[in-house]
Amino acid sequence: MAATPIAVITGASSGIGAATARTLAAAGFRVVLTARRKDRIEALAAEITEAGHQATAYPLDVTDRAAVDEFATAFRSLAVLVNNAGGALGADPVATGDPADWRQMYETNVIGTLNVTQALLPALTASGDGTVVILSSTAALSSYEGGGGYVAAKHGEHVLAETLRLEIVGTPVRVIEVAPGMVRTEEFATTRFRGDTEKAAKVYAGVDAPLTAEDVADTIGWAVTRPSHVNIDLLVVRPRAQASNTKVHRTL
Ligand SMILES: NC(=O)c1ccc[n+]([C@@H]2O[C@H](COP(=O)([O-])OP(=O)(O)OC[C@H]3O[C@@H](n4cnc5c(N)ncnc54)[C@H](OP(=O)(O)O)[C@@H]3O)[C@@H](O)[C@H]2O)c1
Repeated sequence: MAATPIAVITGASSGIGAATARTLAAAGFRVVLTARRKDRIEALAAEITEAGHQATAYPLDVTDRAAVDEFATAFRSLAVLVNNAGGALGADPVATGDPADWRQMYETNVIGTLNVTQALLPALTASGDGTVVILSSTAALSSYEGGGGYVAAKHGEHVLAETLRLEIVGTPVRVIEVAPGMVRTEEFATTRFRGDTEKAAKVYAGVDAPLTAEDVADTIGWAVTRPSHVNIDLLVVRPRAQASNTKVHRTL
C-alpha cells in the first residue's frame, strides 16, 4: 500500500494556514502543522484527527534556521510544503516607517520561506513528485501607499518563487505561488495594527464579502491537486469587490 502523502503547512495556527491544513487533510494528505503557538496547532491537529484525518503538530519559528533544520530531519520524503507563515507590520509611509518592522517582515516572509524551503527541498525532490506553495500576496505584484515594508517583503517572496522555479526545472518539484488580495482573517490586520481592532476593522469596512481563509485554502487545495505535470505558476485571487490593491468598492 502506498504511504499517505505528507503536507507541511507553516503558520497553521490561524487564518489561511489553519484553513489550508483542514483542506489538505480532507484531500487525503497527512498534514504537519507548524507555527510558534503550540497550543493552537495541537488543538487543530486534534480537531483534524477527530474528523478522521491525519494530523500532527510541531512548534516552529520559521526564522530560527537551526530549529528548521532539526525539523527537516524528520522527513525523508515530502509531497507538499505550503509556505504560509508571514504577515504585515504597520502601514506607515516610507518616509517614517520603522526599519525594525521592515526587517521583521523580511525575516518572516522571505527568510522564513527560504529557510523552510531550503531545508525541505531534498525531501520534496526525493518524493519524486513534490510541490512547493508560496503564499505571497497581491502586494507581491504592485505597490500601495503605506504598504512599503510589506510590499517589499512580498515582492521578495515572489522573486524567490520565480527564481526557484527556474533553478529546479527538470527536477520532480513544482513551485506554485498563490497571491491573494483582501482576505478577512481573524488576526492578519490586528497583528498589522498591533492589536488595534478598530483600525483593523477599517480595512474591511463596507467591503461586500472579502475573501475568507477558506476561499484561499480552496484555491491552494485546487492548485496542489492538479496532475503532477501541471504547474500553476502564479494564481492571483481577489474578492469581486476589489479590482486592485487600491481600488476597492465600499458601501459606506
Ligand atoms: N489576510 C490577508 O489579507 C492576506 C492577503 C494576502 C496574503 N496574505 C498572506 O497569507 C499568509 C497568512 O495570512 P493570514 O491572513 O492567515 O494571517 P494570520 O492569521 O495572521 O496568520 C499568520 C500565521 O503566520 C504564523 N507566523 C508568523 N510569524 C511566524 C514565525 N516567525 N514562525 C512561524 N510562524 C509564524 C502565525 O503563527 P504563530 O503566531 O503561532 O507563529 C500565523 O499562523 C501570510 O503570509 C500573509 O502575508 C494574507
